[in-house]
Amino acid sequence: MINPLSTEIQVEPAQLADVEVMDRLEQEAFNTPWSRELLRGAIVNAEYIVRVLRLPGEGLLGFYIAHGVEERCNLDNLVVDLAFRNRGYGSLLIRDWIEQAERRGLARLTLQVNTANRDAQRLYEGLGFRATRLLVSYYPNGEDAYLMVREAPPDHSTLPGSPARPDTRKQKTRRSPSR
Ligand SMILES: CC(C)(COP(=O)(O)OP(=O)(O)OC[C@H]1O[C@@H](n2cnc3c(N)ncnc32)[C@H](O)[C@@H]1OP(=O)(O)O)[C@@H](O)C(=O)NCCC(=O)NCCS
Repeated sequence: MINPLSTEIQVEPAQLADVEVMDRLEQEAFNTPWSRELLRGAIVNAEYIVRVLRLPGEGLLGFYIAHGVEERCNLDNLVVDLAFRNRGYGSLLIRDWIEQAERRGLARLTLQVNTANRDAQRLYEGLGFRATRLLVSYYPNGEDAYLMVREAPPDHSTLPGSPARPDTRKQKTRRSPSR
């Protein structure tokens, strides 16, 4: 088992050269994956946070895409390679997102998750997110999502369990049943 806390694991800004692998992970994870064009567009757009998780010898294992709207930051996409799930990498990516958002002064974190995607919901709940609204027919196929929200704690330095656009693209970020 790979130690998810290994210092060799890096979460860093995505490069355009990463699009090919990101596209493969999208295709494997979702029924309605983002296109390569959308992935490229997010990488070059300064309003977006696009970061990838790399492991020496394995390459790119996962990524997330988020974007800021005023004081809010929304998670638009999160994927971990199927072969590397349940090892803590999803949690690592979400913690990185929280840190990146806080650095930008974005205190309110939001995401949408399919009501059927219990795995992802458990992960988010464990990191302090709470479902605040049911988004009826959020997905193109009519399925529902929960809006989940995490307000930054008064002391921004701690995370639960840790030791220590106007949205013009809304349609494009809607998720498939698997999300
Ligand atoms: C959702 C997703 C990103 C989670 O990624 P992940 O790497 O499997 O997430 P983690 O490993 O951090 O957490 C998953 C589970 O593994 C457990 N886990 C974490 N580290 C572990 C370890 N070292 N050993 C065993 N289990 C571990 C976690 O506790 C968690 O269990 P839970 O179900 O009790 O919460 C991944 O399932 C995925 O890509 N799904 C498809 C796309 C998707 O649904 N994206 C979310 C859209 S909203």
